[in-house]
Amino acid sequence: MLAVMSIPPTTQAIQGPAIHVQGLGKSYQELRVLRGVDLQVARGSIVALLGSNGAGKTTLVKILSTLLKADAGTARVNGFDVATRAADVRESISLTGQFAAVDEILTGRENLVLVARLRHLREPGAIADDLLRRFALTEAGTRRVATYSGGMRRRLDIAMSLIGNPPVIFLDEPTTGLDPEARIEVWQAVKKLAAGGTTVLLTTQYLGEAEQLADRIAILHQGRIIVDGTLSELKQLLPPAKVEYVKKQPSLEDVFLAVVGSAGSETEHGDADKGDQDRKTTSNER
Ligand SMILES: Nc1ncnc2c1ncn2[C@@H]1O[C@H](COP(=O)(O)OP(=O)(O)O)[C@@H](O)[C@H]1O
Ligand SMILES: [Mg+2]
Repeated sequence: MLAVMSIPPTTQAIQGPAIHVQGLGKSYQELRVLRGVDLQVARGSIVALLGSNGAGKTTLVKILSTLLKADAGTARVNGFDVATRAADVRESISLTGQFAAVDEILTGRENLVLVARLRHLREPGAIADDLLRRFALTEAGTRRVATYSGGMRRRLDIAMSLIGNPPVIFLDEPTTGLDPEARIEVWQAVKKLAAGGTTVLLTTQYLGEAEQLADRIAILHQGRIIVDGTLSELKQLLPPAKVEYVKKQPSLEDVFLAVVGSAGSETEHGDADKGDQDRKTTSNER
């Protein structure tokens, strides 16, 4: 089991950032979704790509994972150009979408063994057991996935995407639709991944998620990355907290609304002025 954990990444680590995107453009017919996206993701870091619904997050992730071709610009993942070295990019990544791709009829362990076999890995059983342990699914491993909670399913989905030990993983809205407890479980799993050296690019609509997880936060708005920095850098974009009756540090939500608003948004969010507590309630109901 220990030997399984120390398998080096399938594709050799290449110098430079894990993800390097320059001037990326993509349109669907008349709809210009990406209009010159620039982004760099350092190895072993977690970057949250934040954006409203329809901002183009999934489009960007699909281009980076070679499922979609860009119209303009360049993107390299693990040092490989997505346009000319697609096979190498695929060897370097895994992609977990918003909807879990696990087989309900099989047990958690069977799902993992199946994927390990499909990838022609040795000792698929040992790989499965190791991942079950890492994602706190050992006991559940012998049960059919149909009996799992949303959080367990998503954890299994992420575990499956790690088989073969890709150096870069894309998580497209990994916690959308999960309740707060399950969301925290997924966050812990993602944090462990990055601690182990995996580079994580995740997309999210939840500002709190970016705040909790990410080393850096990039905000995608109207086809461009309008802000990219650490949480404290982003908070410095706003004037320092005023001392009135209550001193309040700007939250990521304040920063998001300020920069999205200043970029000339035509989309207004009706619940923009709601507090943290309200937002959590809303995401609960999804
Ligand atoms: N295959 C497609 N054909 C046409 N329009 C699309 C297609 N995929 C996405 N879109 C549109 O592109 C925009 C960005 O979509 P998407 O990348 O899924 O955004 P996000 O993931 O940030 O919600 C949306 O307006 C969406 O309706
Ligand atoms: Mg999306």
